[in-house]
Amino acid sequence: MAPTILFIVLSLVFTLSSTHIQSSEEGFIFVQISNRGLDFAKDVLIDKAVSSIVPLQLPDIEKSVKIPVVGKVHVLLSNITIYHVDVASSYIHTGETGIVLVASGATANLSMAWQYSYRTWLVPVAITDDGGASVQVEGMEVGLAAALKNQDGNLKLSVLECGCHVKDISIKLDGGASWLYQVVVNAFEGKIASAVENAISKKIREGIIKLDSLLQSIPKEIPVYRTAVLNVTFVDNPVLSNSSIEFEINGLVTAKDAVLVSNYNHKGWKDIFFGSGPAKMIQISLQQDVFNSVSLVYFDADYMHWIVDKIPDQSILNTAGWRYIVPQLYKQYPDDDLNLNISVSSPPIIKVAKDVIGAIINLDVTIDVVDGGEVIPVACISLVHLIETSVCKS
Ligand SMILES: *[C@@H]1O[C@H](CO)[C@@H](O)[C@H](O)[C@H]1NC(C)=O
Ligand SMILES: *[C@@H]1O[C@H](CO)[C@@H](O)[C@H](O)[C@H]1NC(C)=O
Ligand SMILES: *[C@@H]1O[C@H](CO)[C@@H](O)[C@H](O)[C@H]1NC(C)=O
Ligand SMILES: *[C@@H]1O[C@H](CO)[C@@H](O)[C@H](O)[C@H]1NC(C)=O
Ligand SMILES: *[C@@H]1O[C@H](CO)[C@@H](O)[C@H](O)[C@H]1NC(C)=O
Repeated sequence: MAPTILFIVLSLVFTLSSTHIQSSEEGFIFVQISNRGLDFAKDVLIDKAVSSIVPLQLPDIEKSVKIPVVGKVHVLLSNITIYHVDVASSYIHTGETGIVLVASGATANLSMAWQYSYRTWLVPVAITDDGGASVQVEGMEVGLAAALKNQDGNLKLSVLECGCHVKDISIKLDGGASWLYQVVVNAFEGKIASAVENAISKKIREGIIKLDSLLQSIPKEIPVYRTAVLNVTFVDNPVLSNSSIEFEINGLVTAKDAVLVSNYNHKGWKDIFFGSGPAKMIQISLQQDVFNSVSLVYFDADYMHWIVDKIPDQSILNTAGWRYIVPQLYKQYPDDDLNLNISVSSPPIIKVAKDVIGAIINLDVTIDVVDGGEVIPVACISLVHLIETSVCKS
């Protein structure tokens, strides 16, 4: 079981980083999201934002306008709906104060219904008409500045500033009197633009609140099989630089009953393993103590203990298979099954060096004969097993 855990932990190591190492008393896992990773996250975020924005219904706009010859006309624009948004380009910038995300050259397509009514002294009843219109919003700029902080071990994302600016809109009316187009353009263009600006800023603020509650819901402990938990509490504030965001996570594995097992001497980040390679989206560094805390928990939980009674060549696990090599054994226990009782006799020690992870494992192997239901140890071997794994960089 333990090697599986170790493998899982190891497979987390996409690559190892030696840059921007922070020293901390508590953080054992160090995560760095590079520019490439941030760019990727930005594209995903913008996609998600756009699909959560549309369709977006804006409040109705109405106004009475004086028209030469015609008189006072009441115009209502209703069911104003943004149904399509396109983002031409975007960038993300991280700095000490927070994260800035800008989408520029965005366009939006809107549909709406128009309706007007007026009275003249000529006819006693109100004259009304209605129809549809399409609106094209061009050159929209959307900017967001957000702060990312540690709040009680979770990441807290909050909006510092958020704005949307519409540069240009064009309106196409289906039908209507000849004066109507000019009225809509003159009296409503600015109102439509600011309705779009307000609605989009509001949606983005709401989106950040949702994203933040998602961050808040990240558990502080992740169960690792049945017996242990990995402490994923964030330690300190994330460090934002112009090329990356860096986090430290406690990262120690403890037994589920919350007995802290790590008494390891904390040696600082020099113990993490280093690597280099082409730009990665995310880099994760694990300190040696992380491995040792896993090892100690599994040793304490009595997990490093196996009885082997099934192997591909089953004949080896029978005294008959050893008849010519150890004839005494066969003579004493003819045709009895054998099993191997393998125990790890002390917590494996894991050493981390540049590009290499080594483990020293002390094994006690007992060979048992199963004679009519009775288990009789017949041999005992102590082994010191040294495993070295080089860390592959993908
Ligand atoms: C509002 O506009 C949408 C999209 O153009 C349309 O599907 C819907 O029927 C309209 N609703 C009303 C009440 O006119
Ligand atoms: C949005 O409007 C533009 C210009 O009118 C048009 O070219 C584009 O096809 C429209 N997009 C959608 C999804 O209707
Ligand atoms: C990031 O900051 C460093 C100095 O702090 C500067 O040399 C570098 O040009 C900056 N990079 C970008 C992309 O702004
Ligand atoms: C998890 O890590 C945090 C931060 O290092 C620490 O304060 C907390 O006590 C740890 N929790 C457990 C159960 O060890
Ligand atoms: C296996 O060996 C260990 C000591 O090496 C012993 O404590 C344990 O009882 C043995 N288990 C079985 C099933 O023989």
